[in-house]
Amino acid sequence: MERTVALRQAAAVAGELVAALSALAPALVGEDVPAESTSQSYFRVREVELSDQQAALHGVLAVHRGLEDLCEAPLSGADLELEIAGMRQSVLDLTGAAPGAVPDTVPDPVAPVGVPDAAAGASLESAWSARWLIGHQVHVLFNVCAAVAVADATRRLRDGDGDAALLRLADATVYVRGFPAAMTHASTIPADYYMASIRETMAPPSVDVPLSGRQHRGYKLFRAAMKHLLSVVPDSYEDLAARDPELAEARGALLEADIVDGERHVTLAYSMVHLRRSIAQKPEGPDNAVAELRLMRHRRAAQYASLIRFGDHYVADAVAGLRHS
Ligand code: HEM
Repeated sequence: MERTVALRQAAAVAGELVAALSALAPALVGEDVPAESTSQSYFRVREVELSDQQAALHGVLAVHRGLEDLCEAPLSGADLELEIAGMRQSVLDLTGAAPGAVPDTVPDPVAPVGVPDAAAGASLESAWSARWLIGHQVHVLFNVCAAVAVADATRRLRDGDGDAALLRLADATVYVRGFPAAMTHASTIPADYYMASIRETMAPPSVDVPLSGRQHRGYKLFRAAMKHLLSVVPDSYEDLAARDPELAEARGALLEADIVDGERHVTLAYSMVHLRRSIAQKPEGPDNAVAELRLMRHRRAAQYASLIRFGDHYVADAVAGLRHS
């Protein structure tokens, strides 16, 4: 009960922020902006240049929808905390607000704007379908905010502003820890419902190409930012810890969060589709969804093994062996 009350209050505060930001300039109508991919069109995500005010408004709209849905979604307490931390960080980053500013009064809830509708009284099925999109939208918000935080940290490191870089690495880690929480939020729907009703909407003939996680452009932005960071700070954990222990820890926390995200994707896909090939894989291909995601986890863990304190050297050696054979 207390948890739902707190979430309703948070949703009301986000709604108030939406109203205040909309008063400055209204939200863009997403449907009027062409989608860059089938995946964007399906998940109702768009890419467009925005003013700071508009970026804040659209970010807070995603947060507001997410909070409204979290009032009902059976997400674990641990993931709830991680997702809320990501949402909080995104509001701080997008509005430029100082952390810790607490409102005196909690506003009344406002009607959601431009939302996949999971309104009160709607059927459970429509709430689950809306949740699939809402959780993905929060995930995209975290991907883009993480990419910006990592790029900022990299720039600060190149400029020699180590303290600012540490802060932005910590912000990025909050987002990356939020990735699997938002992914799990999207998936707090019965696996039977996913298999029977949602999965087919992500493959032809419902859409022109089968959807795959690989098509998420915000996530690609994040991967590119991580690659650039590691090209600027490629040192092994030991070398970096000797030169700059705080940076070694901050980079390590970010990379660990990235590995765990990969690990959790494996188990999530197993819960949803068991041993099936994904909708994006050829029926005769070598891997199913779980095997493909596991391979991604192993490649990432191998790449990071020497960069973190508790690296997976066992897998790193195996991957290196495979590359040489
Ligand atoms: C809210 C976020 C996400 C959720 C809930 C999610 C969930 C899932 C599920 C349920 C599957 C099995 C698909 C099926 O066969 O029905 C899957 C597969 C997969 N996901 Fe994700 N995913 C998310 C984001 C991402 C992202 C950002 C990537 C980026 C690399 C990704 C990469 C993959 C890959 C490679 C597969 C297996 C093969 C394929 O479908 O291409 N996913 N995911």
